[in-house]
Amino acid sequence: MSSKIPYKTLNNNTKIPLLGFSSWGWGDTVQGIIGQGVKDAIDLGYRYFDTAPNGIEQEVGDALYEKITDGTVNREDLYIVGKLWDPKVFHDPALIKDAVLSTLRNLNLTYLDSYILQCPEGDLQFVDTWHEMEKLVDNFVVKSIGLSNFNEKQIDHLYTSARYLPVTNQFDCNPYLMQVELCELCKSKSLAVTVYNPFGSSTLLEDATINNLAQKYRKTAEQILLRYQIQQGHVAIPIAISKNKLKENMDIFKFDISKSDMVALGKLDRNKQYTSFSALSYVIIDAKSLSIDKLNNFFSFFHK
Ligand SMILES: NC(=O)c1ccc[n+]([C@@H]2O[C@H](COP(=O)([O-])OP(=O)(O)OC[C@H]3O[C@@H](n4cnc5c(N)ncnc54)[C@H](OP(=O)(O)O)[C@@H]3O)[C@@H](O)[C@H]2O)c1
Repeated sequence: MSSKIPYKTLNNNTKIPLLGFSSWGWGDTVQGIIGQGVKDAIDLGYRYFDTAPNGIEQEVGDALYEKITDGTVNREDLYIVGKLWDPKVFHDPALIKDAVLSTLRNLNLTYLDSYILQCPEGDLQFVDTWHEMEKLVDNFVVKSIGLSNFNEKQIDHLYTSARYLPVTNQFDCNPYLMQVELCELCKSKSLAVTVYNPFGSSTLLEDATINNLAQKYRKTAEQILLRYQIQQGHVAIPIAISKNKLKENMDIFKFDISKSDMVALGKLDRNKQYTSFSALSYVIIDAKSLSIDKLNNFFSFFHK
């Protein structure tokens, strides 16, 4: 079954779909429904599945297995991303092997298309971890390795000693948090930008400019926000589970936002990160003051 989602060529000459399915949601909230979401997404034409060891890996894996074994899709037509996000690996890179094997076991896979280093610890203490991840590429356990939430300084530092360059950097990006310098650096290094939180935790859905554009193009605000990322050459991985939202989010490849409207969207930048964690209160962070330690504190929530 072919997909209507276009692809982007990465710096290792492999292709990644421009729109992916995110299984970020943590255990309890999506357990029992994420598997159906994965199966619906495959039926609709999604091929990129962004996963994490967040308690629902196995349900995602079972759904992938079902769709591969019933012949709906071939494994090689899927792009599956796993995450290395246990902070312990920064102190003991030998733990990486166990982490990736656990992910492969949960996902019912023999390889990952990409394995992403989530949230660098400290300022520059990730190089040994990266070198250990490179061995996974040497051993065909993963086809590529990538980054999540890396800043400019960390990327520059990584490039001084990497044998395998990261294929993508995944981070929070939307018109209220444009991350202009980071996007430019990634592009200058042929590092694909993968955007999560494209709706700014829903804050953007109330923005007048976005809503006016939605009316003008006869699209929803979500579609405008996704199209905005695609036109910048970014890959987007919004969280959506219900079939109608998954379908709606795919309907962004047959219209163009004009140059002047792209400029208008770019002017909305507030350099603010809007992060909603249902278990915590609503948090607004000034992006320039966002230290890695602060970010790690947020993510440590998931390690409990
Ligand atoms: N690598 C990383 O560090 C990483 C990766 C991903 C996410 N995150 C974190 O997870 C949090 C959530 O991220 P996110 O990207 O999901 O946030 P988001 O894009 O702001 O919002 C996801 C929500 O939008 C809804 N939605 C999706 N498509 C829709 C549509 N077409 N119409 C109406 N509603 C729609 C979903 O509803 P349904 O659930 O009902 O479908 C879901 O509740 C962020 O705060 C981010 O920090 C981190």
